[in-house]
Amino acid sequence: MATIIRNTGEMSAAMALRRRRGETIGLVPTMGYLHEGHLSLVRASRRENDVSVVSLFVNPIQFGPGEDLERYPRDEARDLELLEKEGVDYLFAPTAQTLYAPDHSTFVDETALSLPLCGASRPGHFRGVCTVVLKLFHVVGPDRAYFGMKDYQQLQVIRRMVRDLDVPVKIRPCPLVREPDGLALSSRNAYLFPEERRSALGLSAALRAVAEAYEGGERSTPALVALAQEKLAQDRRLDADYLEIRGAESLEPLDVVDRPAVVALAARVGKTRLIDNIVIGE
Ligand code: PAF
Repeated sequence: MATIIRNTGEMSAAMALRRRRGETIGLVPTMGYLHEGHLSLVRASRRENDVSVVSLFVNPIQFGPGEDLERYPRDEARDLELLEKEGVDYLFAPTAQTLYAPDHSTFVDETALSLPLCGASRPGHFRGVCTVVLKLFHVVGPDRAYFGMKDYQQLQVIRRMVRDLDVPVKIRPCPLVREPDGLALSSRNAYLFPEERRSALGLSAALRAVAEAYEGGERSTPALVALAQEKLAQDRRLDADYLEIRGAESLEPLDVVDRPAVVALAARVGKTRLIDNIVIGE
């Protein structure tokens, strides 16, 4: 049975006890409404650690004004059931009041990798992510923490934060998980009407077209981007926010794909904003 903890002091005390016993701790930070992508992180944590903790917290400070904080899907009972099946040891599900004092005034700002892509469209988003993730690291004190490559930029920003601030945790990236038809798993897929879900397949199709052209020898970034944009433009329900090819680790813009690169894409389908990516040239 997973132990549910809602209080930071209790969580830290439980982890201190486990550490004193010589046990290693894996943390999977989530905002709940779990899917196979999250569960693959949990399985990786269970393989590598004695104790696995999943945090479930819809972090208000990583949502901008007018974003989907209120309607973000939530179902703690279903999440708990899934986590029990995976043999998770602890579910840390604090309230916003527990995690943030009413006069909370300290934030973590990564100032390079957070700027382009989602950072440009969602100002303040990565500040909210870094702040909550660092808090979770302090409360839980994990040896390893697991992040999906679906949120590719988030993963790189967190790696940078951990490096820059000497946080004693190993970041374990896990592969993006897709539906059989190619749609990247996301809690936000729950928003999609059937016809929107069909349109959403255009994201992975555009990325596949880039990967195929790259495999076929195309190295020019503008040519690869144009190809993907053309694919996206074929569906009028898709409204691209950004589609960029950048260096895989430092996210620098590339004119030519002459090193490992990420093709990162964000698009709106109706009211839902989806992201997807692939890494090429590895
Ligand atoms: O990827 C997410 O679900 C969130 O951004 C995270 C890492 C749990 C922080 O709130």
